[in-house]
Amino acid sequence: MVITPMDRGFGATVRAIDLRQPLTDRQQADLLAAADEYVLLSFPGQAIDDGQQLGFAANFGTPTSYFKRKAALVPGGDPRIISLTNEDADGSLKHASELADEGIMASRLWHSDNSWRQVPDRFTLLAGKEVPPTGGNTEFIDMRAAWDALPDSRKEALRTLVVAHSREQGRAAVGVKLTDEERQLFPPVPQPLVRTNPRTGRQALYLGMFASHALGMPEEPGRQLVQQLLAYIGQPRFVHSYAWQVDDLIIWDNAQTSHRSTPFAEHEYRRVMRRIGVLEQAPLLER
Ligand code: OGA
Ligand code: MN
Repeated sequence: MVITPMDRGFGATVRAIDLRQPLTDRQQADLLAAADEYVLLSFPGQAIDDGQQLGFAANFGTPTSYFKRKAALVPGGDPRIISLTNEDADGSLKHASELADEGIMASRLWHSDNSWRQVPDRFTLLAGKEVPPTGGNTEFIDMRAAWDALPDSRKEALRTLVVAHSREQGRAAVGVKLTDEERQLFPPVPQPLVRTNPRTGRQALYLGMFASHALGMPEEPGRQLVQQLLAYIGQPRFVHSYAWQVDDLIIWDNAQTSHRSTPFAEHEYRRVMRRIGVLEQAPLLER
């Protein structure tokens, strides 16, 4: 196994490993350490099936089950595997309204996966089955770099803040309203604004489109604070763009990044991804 850093201390490419085979203990330990350090790992040339992707995901924790996202589940498949695709069952390309309904467009804004859940996804594994020749990159913010670049006085003011995250906020940001049932099912969740990786000691901001307002202050300034921070983290100096090749498998650490999908010619090209989330071990805050 050969791990090569990508650029500016963010991301690494991993070669000379076959993800169809079980990992050795040594490989698993090295990859967990690399994920801590590089945050984004890319494995090119891995033509793996869904079961193999699940097997690989299990090295990083417990895969998330997606019960509600019926449209995105593979028909007859495992609820832990999401198909992100602009292709219809009959092989034609979907209309924009269908894509919006399925939440595919919802990933166009900066977010950390499932940060609106009490136990969010720690890692996400995305496998590129079909990718457009141009566009459709996945962009990442190095949330450690964004934290590090803040002045000390600002860090002091932010360090212990807690922010409300909700599915409702994330959907509203892309113009979709939750049903009353969904609103009851998915109440806002308090999350820390700053997270520390216990193994590297590095701190990172934790927020994205699901964040609505900082708690412990009146709501309006709490909302303004979140909006300011969202504008701050999106600066190009913190952003890394990942250009896909077919059979790339990537894994990212949702505790140290935010990410978003980018547009491509949806009505011309297919973009077919298989996605598996891996859960945090516990809620991020003591309740
Ligand atoms: C995701 C996601 C980005 C992409 O699967 O959580 O945000 O580029 N995907 O498809
Ligand atoms: Mn995502």
